[in-house]
Amino acid sequence: MGIDLSIEYCGVKFPNPYILAAAPPTDKPDMVRRAFDAGWGGAIIKTMSVKEEPVSLVYPMMHGLSYRGQRLMGLENIDLISEHCVDEWLPEITKIKKEYPDQVLIASIMASKKEDWQDLVRRLEDAGIDMIECSFSCPHGMPERGMGSTIGQNAELTERTARWVKEAAKNIPVIIKLTPNVTDITIIAEAVRKSGADSVCAANTVKGLIGFNLDTWSPYPEVNGKSTYGGYSGPAIKPIALKCVAEIAKKVEIPITAVGGLWDWRDAVEFLLAGAETVQSCTAVMAMGYRIIDDLNEGLANYLESKELSCVRDLVGKGLENVMRHEELSREWQVRAFIDQDLCIKCDLCYIACRDGSHQAIERFDDRSVKVDPDKCVGCGFCPQICPVNCITLQPYEVESGEEVSL
Ligand SMILES: Cc1cc2nc3c(=O)[nH]c(=O)nc-3n(C[C@H](O)[C@H](O)[C@H](O)COP(=O)(O)O)c2cc1C
Repeated sequence: MGIDLSIEYCGVKFPNPYILAAAPPTDKPDMVRRAFDAGWGGAIIKTMSVKEEPVSLVYPMMHGLSYRGQRLMGLENIDLISEHCVDEWLPEITKIKKEYPDQVLIASIMASKKEDWQDLVRRLEDAGIDMIECSFSCPHGMPERGMGSTIGQNAELTERTARWVKEAAKNIPVIIKLTPNVTDITIIAEAVRKSGADSVCAANTVKGLIGFNLDTWSPYPEVNGKSTYGGYSGPAIKPIALKCVAEIAKKVEIPITAVGGLWDWRDAVEFLLAGAETVQSCTAVMAMGYRIIDDLNEGLANYLESKELSCVRDLVGKGLENVMRHEELSREWQVRAFIDQDLCIKCDLCYIACRDGSHQAIERFDDRSVKVDPDKCVGCGFCPQICPVNCITLQPYEVESGEEVSL
């Protein structure tokens, strides 16, 4: 692999753009060491606070959503910040930085008052931490105490708190982790920019209620027959995270680190195209281990090579000019569904989907073969999503002449 995957983000050099998100995989010093041994570019230590901040966990704290055989499409958690306070971490941070000088160690922090935010930053910087990430975004447990997403849902509180943290940081960059549970995330990102903080992380978990147990009528995860709203993560939230990144990148002048739903290197490429400079992962690592970094690196390097690009930065924001407002999209562009008869297994699914969900443009014959009527088909794009063998494609179509144009 000849390609250099390093990237500078907020003035700090990362050996690759992959960062472990603040979460269980970074909750212990030896876990961070194993992650760095595996090759992660950076690691954000699970959110810590001052010793006096109470952390009272409940179990079980996680429940997953499986869909069509795909395990863990999404994961909901009602975890809180770490049980390990800043005092426990300080000596370990100094040691880890000596052992792994080239990998980037970031501390995630949360506090309930100005003195604590500033005290945390000063002590962590003195211990040798490379960067600070502030969680303004946890959707459960913390908002009740005026912390977490209570801050990230309010532009004034965001600007004020981010300014406190930035004031206290002497030389290290400050990232503010935003919540997607807002009407317009760009207003909050703009508040971060105004505060002088260096970057935003978009975005934390999506607030959700993962489901009910039909026997007990308790929501999951069941804590003695009861539960609460939690934070949803994993592949299901990637479109939401990607939208947050693109919206911020298009509107606010601030570096972005992306998080939410990354599962493989393709997701990383998409986050970079949407304007992120680094990408974080939690659920994928929890499910598949630190070792996924090898595939993430290799896939990205091969992709860059195939596009004849020499570095990761060449991808950053490159998809943004193609993200438009709805009214700007071409009304001349016409496509039609095309069924490859050699691959079709005559399962009927496209016929039913088009009949009851779209324009009744797919005909079915006695031998169960199917054919698209190009005069009825509008090219809505639904049938290719339904076909179990991927034999339907959308192809450009000349409306006036009524002739299909080959791709
Ligand atoms: C069990 C669990 C605990 C988490 N704890 C924290 C935390 O302490 N601080 C934080 O900022 N985010 C926390 N997160 C959120 C993750 O850092 C990440 O933003 C989220 O899971 C979305 O990324 P993913 O889809 O790659 O998992 C936690 C997530 C999970 C699943």
